[in-house]
Amino acid sequence: MEKTNSRRPLERNIAMELVRVTEAAAMAAARHLGRGDKNLVDGAAVAAMRQTLGYVRMDGIVVVVEGEKDEAPMLYIGERIGDGSAPQADIAVDPIDGTTLVARGLPGALSVLALSARGTMNYPRQFFYMNKIVTGHEAKDLIDIDAPVAENIRNIARAKRRSVAEITVVVLDRPRHEQIISEIQQIGARVKLISDGDVAASIDAAMPETEVDVLMGIGGTTEGVLSAAAIHCIGGGIQCKAWPRDEDEREAAIVSGVDVDKIYKAEDLINSEDVFFAATGVSSGELLKGVRYFSGGAHTQSLVMRSRSGTVRWIDSLHDFKRLDKLENL
Ligand code: FBP
Repeated sequence: MEKTNSRRPLERNIAMELVRVTEAAAMAAARHLGRGDKNLVDGAAVAAMRQTLGYVRMDGIVVVVEGEKDEAPMLYIGERIGDGSAPQADIAVDPIDGTTLVARGLPGALSVLALSARGTMNYPRQFFYMNKIVTGHEAKDLIDIDAPVAENIRNIARAKRRSVAEITVVVLDRPRHEQIISEIQQIGARVKLISDGDVAASIDAAMPETEVDVLMGIGGTTEGVLSAAAIHCIGGGIQCKAWPRDEDEREAAIVSGVDVDKIYKAEDLINSEDVFFAATGVSSGELLKGVRYFSGGAHTQSLVMRSRSGTVRWIDSLHDFKRLDKLENL
């Protein structure tokens, strides 16, 4: 049997197979758009993801999961997935980033999956949240999560050859971000608030020619690792730092030997040159269109990326439900 390790390139573009998984999860979850039930949304996405992951030609282990929040349905750390054949891989999943968005019928939710060679993903799961800064390639070496907000924005503006007033910072709309928002406002940059979904926002911040230049603030650790996977492929910069919710979380991390002050760059979260990323829109947002139904089928839009080639693909798919039902292996 072919063996894969972190030093040997993954020859196959497995992201082209992973996208079928995020498509299936998005289509299953989108049926529950606006019905006000987060668990229904998560449950549908997780079930579809688990089933379709089983068909992917790989020996995968789930290393990073979203769902430990509020007892939502989830895939489990250590769960073996794929058909057991090569490559051996680490998997990060967020069946739905933006469950509340889907439950409330709001834009911007995605189904997300990332893969890298076995043993290369580092998930600091002692921390539920991380502080993050994400930007595009121009300023990737100029960001510093420990520096003041104003300094980072000035450096990003300089790298992008723009004025500070032409820089847009995307921030999760949370009370914990009042200070950051006020610092952004004071320096005269633009603020874009989002109610949920910082993976999509991180991708927007890293990609050229989008509405936003940088993401700042505290979001989920799982989403941080998934954003790092996207950054490996797109080529921007990300820095994350643990943001313990309370003293107990901080103490527990210290006792388990984790450095609370460590700055995690993309390569500290995923130490691999072979990173694959797939995401499918559930509800339409700036990055991707959501699931649209037609008689007998649905239309999905996805983003598929591979770090080794740096190719970023948008994939529009038409799904014929009758024919899919006849297939044993989606
Ligand atoms: P869920 O889909 O799990 O609800 O995550 C949505 C999200 O907005 C993430 O994108 C973000 O990282 C995290 O929640 C922020 O957490 P919180 O809502 O607790 O502030």
